[in-house]
Amino acid sequence: MKIKLRLLLPLALPLFVSAAQAAPAKENWENSCASCHGEDGKAQTRQGKKLKIRDYTDAAVQAKMKDDEMLKAILDGVTEGGKERMKSFKDEFSEAEAKDLVAFVRSLKA
Ligand code: HEC
Repeated sequence: MKIKLRLLLPLALPLFVSAAQAAPAKENWENSCASCHGEDGKAQTRQGKKLKIRDYTDAAVQAKMKDDEMLKAILDGVTEGGKERMKSFKDEFSEAEAKDLVAFVRSLKA
C-alpha cells in the first residue's frame, strides 16, 4: 500500500494543481490586454496608438514602472484627469492572476 501511494502521488499532484490553476498569464494577456497593449507589448494597435500607450518592451519604460503600481493599474484601472484610460480588471482576475500579469509584462522587456 505504501509503495502504491508513493507511485500515485506524483501522478495525481500535477493534475490537481493544473485543475486548480487559472488561465496562464499569456492567455489572459492575449484575451484582455493585447487589444490595447499589443501581443508583443509595443502597443502598436489602433487603440494603443490612440491612447498613446508606452512600449513595454522598452527597458527605459520598464525601469520607470513599479511592480506595485502595475498591480494597482491592473486591479483598479488607470485614470488621468478623471478620465478612464484603462478599466479595472478586478472582476475578471484574482490578485494572483494580476500578479502573474505583472510578471508577464516584465517578461516583455526586449
Ligand atoms: C482600453 C485599453 C487598455 C486595455 C484593454 C488594457 N490596458 Fe493597460 N493601460 C492602458 C493605458 C492607456 C495605460 C496608461 C498608459 C501607459 O502605460 O502608457 C495602461 C497602463 C498599464 C500598465 C502600467 C501601469 C503603470 O505602472 O504605469 C500596466 C502594467 C498595464 N496597463 C497592464 C495591463 C494588463 C495586464 C491588461 C489586461 C488585463 C491591460 N493593461 C489592459 C490601456 C489598456
